[in-house]
Amino acid sequence: MHNIRKITEDIYYVGGSDRRLTLFENIFPIPRGVSYNAYLLMDEKTVLLDTVDSSVGRQFLENIAYVLGSRSLDYMVINHMEPDHCALLEQIILRYPKVKLIGNAKTFQMVKQFFDFEMEGRSITVKEGDRFLTGKHNLSFVMAPMVHWPEVMVTYDPESKILFSADAFGTFGALNGAVFADEIEFDKDWQEDARRYYSNIVGKYGTQVQALLKKASGLDIQMICPLHGPVWRKDISFILDKYMKWSTYEPEEQGVLIIYASMYGNTENAADILAAELVKAGVKKLAVYDVSGIHMSYLVSEVFKYSHLVIVSPTYNAELYPVMDQFVRDLKALNVQNRKAALVESGTWALSAAKKSKLLFEEMKNITILEPVVSVKSSVKESDRKNIEELAGVILKSM
Ligand code: FEO
Repeated sequence: MHNIRKITEDIYYVGGSDRRLTLFENIFPIPRGVSYNAYLLMDEKTVLLDTVDSSVGRQFLENIAYVLGSRSLDYMVINHMEPDHCALLEQIILRYPKVKLIGNAKTFQMVKQFFDFEMEGRSITVKEGDRFLTGKHNLSFVMAPMVHWPEVMVTYDPESKILFSADAFGTFGALNGAVFADEIEFDKDWQEDARRYYSNIVGKYGTQVQALLKKASGLDIQMICPLHGPVWRKDISFILDKYMKWSTYEPEEQGVLIIYASMYGNTENAADILAAELVKAGVKKLAVYDVSGIHMSYLVSEVFKYSHLVIVSPTYNAELYPVMDQFVRDLKALNVQNRKAALVESGTWALSAAKKSKLLFEEMKNITILEPVVSVKSSVKESDRKNIEELAGVILKSM
């Protein structure tokens, strides 16, 4: 049975939500599910904007059939070729054989890589600024490479002042009846997932997101229709501001994030003492996580939030503790920058965790290492406590 929502008089939400998938991209936990959004414009021509993941394919096809009624599908715009949005492309061609596909040159390269159907006479290749008249609506196409794949483009509809934004402004989380961000308490219930989605999926491409935001600033946008999560029609500046911060790697909070690894509890003890010292000194925004106890995607999201990062890690095989090593490398891969970092290392013989962390941070942009580095041999002693107190003072001063 169809389950559609009207976005405007002639634009419909035809996507669906998946609450069964445990790992998005087979990497990221999604305990609240995820939505795959698609939109159908019913103008003189009928135009579908993107398809969905195969998991919600049945719902999507029923939705389209219902909205189209006796009409056929004339065009389909492909904003993003990742399979969570293009999985149903072949189904669309089979059901609506006359449909023409609108995409850019890179889109069609990828269509050929993913599918075997005949493209002859089926594709309309567009480039930056090209227009496509559907009747009342005159869609324009804005290239958004690397937000999040090279072929990504977004579609602007000046008639309804909607930006169909592909992955940009998306979030994890199934849509539970609501389609609009103003139908839910986004800042309370969704913000964490939105940041986790952004930082892990698009976080690496801050420069490219900035380029898209710059282009978007020249458009009169009243509504943002992303490919995941709710549609924005009110308080758009809320999500735009977030994107501005995240894409420039500017922290949302002046606060301290302490990530520790600990095999027997001694290094955890050092992390806890540091946290207590900071709180006693008045730091209100502070979080402590065991790197082995939570999926890395949550930690990455927290790094995008806080101004200060403290790595508290044992030395393991003369390297950083493996899980911590992977975490710091993940931050590097995601282009994390503009943070103040502090280091607490531990070990029973040759301590080298801090040195190894420093080497990784040196390869990243604008990561300031605060001194002193605290080195704890086997367990925290009174002299170590003094060093931790000194580090807490330095962190505080730098906030
Ligand atoms: Fe939601 Fe990059 O796909």
